[in-house]
Amino acid sequence: MIDEVDKTCRDTTVYMIGAPKAKRLAELVRQKKPQLAVECGTAIGYSGLWIARELKAAGRGKLITIEIDAARSKQARENFRRAGLDDVVDARVGDARKLVREINEPVDFLFIDCDYPNYYPCLAGIEDRLTDGAVVVADNVGLGAAGMRDYLDHVRSRYRSKTEWFEIDLPWGNRDAMEVTIIEKKGP
Ligand SMILES: C[S@@+](CC[C@H](N)C(=O)[O-])C[C@H]1O[C@@H](n2cnc3c(N)ncnc32)[C@H](O)[C@@H]1O
Repeated sequence: MIDEVDKTCRDTTVYMIGAPKAKRLAELVRQKKPQLAVECGTAIGYSGLWIARELKAAGRGKLITIEIDAARSKQARENFRRAGLDDVVDARVGDARKLVREINEPVDFLFIDCDYPNYYPCLAGIEDRLTDGAVVVADNVGLGAAGMRDYLDHVRSRYRSKTEWFEIDLPWGNRDAMEVTIIEKKGP
């Protein structure tokens, strides 16, 4: 199923994370065992499948994934259903910068992958609901660093944040990075 969605993305130029970064993303989910994970930028569900598969295996946790393009979100929902993961995924349609503000529960895992200038607004819109120790992963930090300067400056100056590089095998790039940030809330 994941391989099939991988192929569709490549064939139809739907930008997605690709297997090397997705494996690391899945590992971070496996370690964190989040109660609530949020993804900004569903596309057709490739990275969401990797996240949801870990939640299902852990037997706990839910993924809220947000996509602005209704047709893509519909395709993603169908992919989650076919993978038997729809019970752990809540796929929402709309502008992630706005919809994250409507999530009131504590969030312990956030994945941001929805056009570089949107990264900072997506984080800012949910930052006060991130739990102490929450994991925040941002994609395309290699290819898109210039477009998300505000985001990178923010997480690197406030939190424990690390840039992880990957050799990737995608039609649109062969090397890229993800920023992995651990949120540490200051005590009173
Ligand atoms: C790189 S793709 C996401 C890939 C996906 N995370 C994966 O790896 O399978 C970026 C997606 O973000 C969506 N997007 C762009 N701006 C958005 C916004 N403001 N809110 C929600 N989604 C947005 C685009 O329509 C596109 O489908």
